Amino acid sequence: MKFFIDTANLQQIKEAQELGVLDGVTTNPSLMAKEGITGRNNILKHYVDICNIVEGDVSAEVIATTYDEMITEGEELAELHEQIVVKVPMIKDGIKAIKYFSDKGIRTNCTLVFSAGQALLAAKAGASYVSPFIGRLDDISTDGLNLISEIRLIYDNYGFDTEILAASVRHTMHIIDCAKLGADVMTGPLSAIEGLLKHPLTDIGLAKFLEDYKKGN
Ligand code: E4P
Repeated sequence: MKFFIDTANLQQIKEAQELGVLDGVTTNPSLMAKEGITGRNNILKHYVDICNIVEGDVSAEVIATTYDEMITEGEELAELHEQIVVKVPMIKDGIKAIKYFSDKGIRTNCTLVFSAGQALLAAKAGASYVSPFIGRLDDISTDGLNLISEIRLIYDNYGFDTEILAASVRHTMHIIDCAKLGADVMTGPLSAIEGLLKHPLTDIGLAKFLEDYKKGN
């Protein structure tokens, strides 16, 4: 399972990269705004800065919502850096754009996916990644993890290459559950990744080992 971090915060991206288990980064317009990155040139520069920190894929989202504009914007994003994956919303023009990008060898991440039908369509269009937002489904009393299972089943039935990128991951158990269900990738906050480290028996065991070592030295 690949681990992506879902942030535009360069410090957190560096911290995750230094942990040695980071495979990529996802961003979205809200995450960029949260870091105060505004204006087209600053946004483009920020994507390049992120690519220079991590070794893996970096999702950069288009703002356009019409086919022609998405193509122009997506091509500009893809040209920024070889690690860029163009993030395209799950709308009709977005599906057409994903098909265009796929035919041109430009990798895409189909975002804002909330149903198995949408995920099937994204795969048919040739998306490199599909992003089901599990946390946002949980927020409205709908089982986000069940969507991961449904998409896994459908993609395996037909051998689709599209990778399931479990998005809107909010906590550590989401990561473990997504791994059990066979998601190819998860994207979430650094805190959720670091939560995987924690077990009280590890802390107790280490304290005891160090205490016993001191007794003998
Ligand atoms: C996916 O790529 C999105 O950036 C993200 O996972 C959304 O998460 P949220 O629902 O916590 O905002």
